[in-house]
Amino acid sequence: MNGRQTNPQNNRVPAQRPQSGGTPAKRPQGTPPRRRRRFRFKPNKEGMQALLILVLLAALIITVLVLTIKGIINAVTSDPESTTTAATTTGETSTEPPVVAAWRDGYVNEIRPNTDVAVGDLILVNFEHSYPLTDAIKSKLTSLSADKAYGEYFVLREFEMKIRGEIITELRQMITDLVTAQSTLGTSKDGDRVIIVSGHRTTDYQQNLYDNQVTENYVAIPGHSEHHTGLAVDLKVYTSKQKTVEFREDEQAWMEANCANYGFVVRYDGAKFELTGILDETWHFRYVGKPHAQYMTDNNLCLEEYLTMLRTHHNVDSEAPLTYTTADATYEIYYVPASVSETTDIPVPKADSVTAIDISGDNMGGFIVTVTK
Ligand code: DAL
Ligand code: ZN
Repeated sequence: MNGRQTNPQNNRVPAQRPQSGGTPAKRPQGTPPRRRRRFRFKPNKEGMQALLILVLLAALIITVLVLTIKGIINAVTSDPESTTTAATTTGETSTEPPVVAAWRDGYVNEIRPNTDVAVGDLILVNFEHSYPLTDAIKSKLTSLSADKAYGEYFVLREFEMKIRGEIITELRQMITDLVTAQSTLGTSKDGDRVIIVSGHRTTDYQQNLYDNQVTENYVAIPGHSEHHTGLAVDLKVYTSKQKTVEFREDEQAWMEANCANYGFVVRYDGAKFELTGILDETWHFRYVGKPHAQYMTDNNLCLEEYLTMLRTHHNVDSEAPLTYTTADATYEIYYVPASVSETTDIPVPKADSVTAIDISGDNMGGFIVTVTK
């Protein structure tokens, strides 16, 4: 014996801690001392291995569970029958029909071949956008010398000159009205007429002009001239003394104030050179159609700016149309992008609900719809 006491079960007697603020509690006599077991985690090598395997197993089970749940969620959201399909981060698009803007409720689709993007009064032809001169377009040209105003109101620099048949009426009226107005214009002389210096041009003709240009930035690159379209004319004055001169100040002012009423714009303003690539050409008039010419003139927009505005702010899929009222009518004008397939569905009002519907390509991948109310 070393003097240590043992209890009957041969267990150690735990040391009594003093209780705070009082005398130590005494164990009732005859009661065996309470055993306090201390858990000591001291696994041997095999225990450690078993523990490691357990942890790995638990991680594996959790991973499998997470992947299974994710798989179930994906299966539900990619179900083609699902009505809640949304665009995903992989770039898939919604299978839901697009929301139709309220302003075109009841509109119907007119189907156009995408080649028509290069057809119409609003096509943009400039240094960035060439013009595909097809036989179909050439067949729409008409000879100016056959027109009833030829000789009396205008002459031609070249007898064979042609323009697009659709614009001859407006062009004739504009020239006739100008020549009639000349009698009241201060600097004009009786007997002066208009001379159409240039109308439709072939690519070869343009190439010749380009190769022989005296001053840069007045002649478009062959294939990129508005003259290829037959929608542009160069106008000057043919005096009673048979001289060709540019419009005098009052004639130019008359043309700038009035040409939009016939659907034409003064196409090249030197201030817009960065956009058009052409310097000031007071003689070059381009037909775009009445409401467009009037809007562009009223708002000092060149064709590049006007088409950008329509594409950006009046896209049929996201925005309301441009509503524009002139002395003649109210117009609804909007942009429709060409589809990636061979044809494009173009939403238009039912024909019997409006006065007219015109669809023009922009020669840049879209269509402009003009509804006359
Ligand atoms: N003079 C115009 C820009 C043309 O050559 O088409
Ligand atoms: Zn010109």
